[in-house]
Amino acid sequence: MFVTFEGIEGTGKSTQIAMLRQYLEAKGRRVLVTLEPGGSRVGRELRKMLLHMEGKDLTGETELFLYLADRAQHVSQVIRPALDRGQAVISDRFADSTVVYQGYGRGLDPKLLHQFNKIAVAGLWPELTILLDIDPELGLKRAMTRNMREGKVKEEGRFEAESLSFHKRVREGYLMWAALNKERFKVVDASPGAQAVFEDIRRVVDERFGT
Ligand code: TMP
Repeated sequence: MFVTFEGIEGTGKSTQIAMLRQYLEAKGRRVLVTLEPGGSRVGRELRKMLLHMEGKDLTGETELFLYLADRAQHVSQVIRPALDRGQAVISDRFADSTVVYQGYGRGLDPKLLHQFNKIAVAGLWPELTILLDIDPELGLKRAMTRNMREGKVKEEGRFEAESLSFHKRVREGYLMWAALNKERFKVVDASPGAQAVFEDIRRVVDERFGT
């Protein structure tokens, strides 16, 4: 079982992932929760470069190749070995983030990005991708409050500092990309409370995997 979560800032991905992990473990599955960027040793270094406010001078292309490097390492060193060991893997972001943020957000060609992703993932695609959808104004507010609370504004705040119009493009991009990949994506409304959102996710997971 390989499930990925996608969405703009502040959709509550981490909370939902923790709830799904608990749900699956209660059913006797062994679960690995991981993330991009930063799921591997090298990835943790790349995450610092990518998300720190100092990274404002990164060009769009540099950013792209760092995300792809993170993904290639993550797939080969972390995700594939876990699946081979029989674990279920849940990743907080994966290849779709590149198509949407670097493509619809930054203006690079989404189709070309999909080709680059094919190299990075080496044939390993999620069986299910849950897109948590929320109004960008609400999402950004939530994400900024979280970064302040956790003292991460400088270390992790580069994308939160992007304009509202960037986040609106990203949100629309996600919805378009999900419509183009209907067999894999499920769009879930992330605006209700965490428990109600999880009910939707649980239903989708049960349907897909018969858990
Ligand atoms: P997060 O871990 O808090 O979600 O932050 C990761 C940020 O990196 C988020 O703003 C989305 C961005 N991102 C990309 O732009 N491209 C990618 O391929 C990935 C994985 C993340």
